[in-house]
Amino acid sequence: MEKKKYYLTTPIYYPSDNFHIGHCYTTVIADTLARYKRAKGFDVFFLTGTDEHGQKIEERAKLAGTDPKSFVDKIVANAQDLWSSLGITYDKFIRTTDEYHVKAVQKMFRDLYEKGDIYKGEYEGWYCTPDESFWTDSQLVDGKCPECGREVKKVKEESYFLRLSNYQKQLEEYLESHPELMQPESRYKEMLNNFLKPGLQDLSVSRTSFKWGIPVDFDPDHVIYVWMDALSNYITALGYNSDDDSLFQKYWPAELHLVGKEIFRFHTLIWPIMLMALDLPLPKQVYGHGWLVVDGGKISKSLGNYKDPRVYINDYGVDAVRYYLLSEVPFGNDGNFSEKLLVERSNSDLANVLGNLVNRTVSMTNKYFGGTVTNTKVHETVDEDLIRTVNELNAKVEAKMDTLHVDAAIAEIFNVLKRTNRYVDETTPWVLGKDESKQDRLQTVLFNLLEAIRVCTIQLEAFIPKSAQAIFDQLQTDARTFDTVAFGSVDSYTVVEKPSILFARIDEKELEEKWAKEAAAVEETTEEVQETKPEITFDDFMKTEMKVGLIEACEKHPKADKLLVSQINIGTETRQVVSGIAPDYTPEDMIGKKVIVVTNLKPAKIRGVESQGMILVGEDANGIEVVNLKSMEPGATVR
Ligand code: MSP
Repeated sequence: MEKKKYYLTTPIYYPSDNFHIGHCYTTVIADTLARYKRAKGFDVFFLTGTDEHGQKIEERAKLAGTDPKSFVDKIVANAQDLWSSLGITYDKFIRTTDEYHVKAVQKMFRDLYEKGDIYKGEYEGWYCTPDESFWTDSQLVDGKCPECGREVKKVKEESYFLRLSNYQKQLEEYLESHPELMQPESRYKEMLNNFLKPGLQDLSVSRTSFKWGIPVDFDPDHVIYVWMDALSNYITALGYNSDDDSLFQKYWPAELHLVGKEIFRFHTLIWPIMLMALDLPLPKQVYGHGWLVVDGGKISKSLGNYKDPRVYINDYGVDAVRYYLLSEVPFGNDGNFSEKLLVERSNSDLANVLGNLVNRTVSMTNKYFGGTVTNTKVHETVDEDLIRTVNELNAKVEAKMDTLHVDAAIAEIFNVLKRTNRYVDETTPWVLGKDESKQDRLQTVLFNLLEAIRVCTIQLEAFIPKSAQAIFDQLQTDARTFDTVAFGSVDSYTVVEKPSILFARIDEKELEEKWAKEAAAVEETTEEVQETKPEITFDDFMKTEMKVGLIEACEKHPKADKLLVSQINIGTETRQVVSGIAPDYTPEDMIGKKVIVVTNLKPAKIRGVESQGMILVGEDANGIEVVNLKSMEPGATVR
């Protein structure tokens, strides 16, 4: 029988050196769904990739002193490395700089232009000069740039537009008859009532003010502006508009686009209209998941609540990280991230509930039966209850996974594991072990335990694949697939002689002491030292490197009222610097100032936030004043 196809995508990521744990969320859910569907016999195509064009990349490349393509080439590998350390099993990785994508998007643009769905007009909007970014009326915050808080100016620029208005009615009708397209339902209502029904404005889809994009081939002053380039990846990756579109014929339309809530709108309004204009079928579902937040706020490098996810993977294991991401964020809502919680969950669920159960069972099978037990099939009521619970699990997990309630699905599996632990307490195998006449009963109990573990592990494979394989290995069973998911599919077990620890218990107390010590050390280094300094030579002084730096962004320190965290452009790069100037300056005061930065100071963590340098200030009884060199360029030397 031909397999049913399942085409699943994540968004394509902006290439970055600074991926955080929140970025891993979409990809880990997608990977879990892909693995689950494959195990259930679907022909899965799982796509991810990178979104590499746009003004921001152009600017960052310039700051790094290189061209955009070399710049992205270097950092794309970072995404691939991160996905590999998380065990992500994508079938294709698309880069929007790939030639087939560029050509396919150019043709798509031309086709829509010839059809009249794209037309040339004039873009009018707001422009933030220092940020070089465009904003619409509704995006401005108090009339200022939503990103840096500075003044914006009105601009007019020639631009091509996609006639969203032409398809407004058609989309409205489609969505009303296909409410399942948008998940969760709350977002569907928001899109329909707040965005679609009030009316869609035509979308500006080209720019002439920067170069790093796909050129419009019949009007090369224009580059195709972000969303049209990015969204089309879902079909160009399959060969749409290329010589070989067999994958496209096979897999399109997608069963699921998984996206974060902030880009849901583009995927449910603009993307369907692009597809309608191209006469292509719409995806079956777009799921807008919530965010991983820290103390209710964003995860970001400058807020100091950021660590490279590979640090957690390295310290606690890939499955502790996957388990946390998959279980902690309730369907469609935001979930909280903290390293402490990750450790707690790993200890309480993975080590205690799962690891301990496997370890005890394998050890007892060795102790009482030399490692081999067979199915006696003689059952007491308590066994029947366990067997029933285990056999009900498959349908429960499937129902949750089919509606994308991934957190609830994994909770179902852990409920059965907890039930299995209770079965150990109810049957007390260690007591049976002391009684010669209870050997058959003991064998039944151990076999039932191994069977329950095996069935749960089949379910767990999609979520925590590495550990699942390790458990199967300890059970020494080949019955790892869903065709053996029924209890009793195996007749006997010969388990490994010595079970290895699956999830090492992390000492929470030791960890907290370590964190407390780190915090105290930081406090100490930031204490001001007030003393008369010894004389230094000219050479000593010349060891200090100082440069003019432009403060491009600034925010309050998340943990200290007196500190501000600035992002400072020092010509060759952007540095993050923490300074004790908050009593006298607001973040808005600082943005745009050209200050003097000591650039060769050893980086330090100040109340948990990394500081890579120091701003020079004057200080007296009235307070602090920063030096502001108005006519200098960032990067100019100070001596
Ligand atoms: N390039 C666009 C997407 C284009 S798709 C045609 C983009 N890229 S992104 O790198 O900014 O984000 C990629 C994904 O990471 C998004 O789904 C986004 O929601 C997700 N996350 C980024 N930070 C997140 C959290 N803190 N929590 C959960 N997901 C978050 O947007």
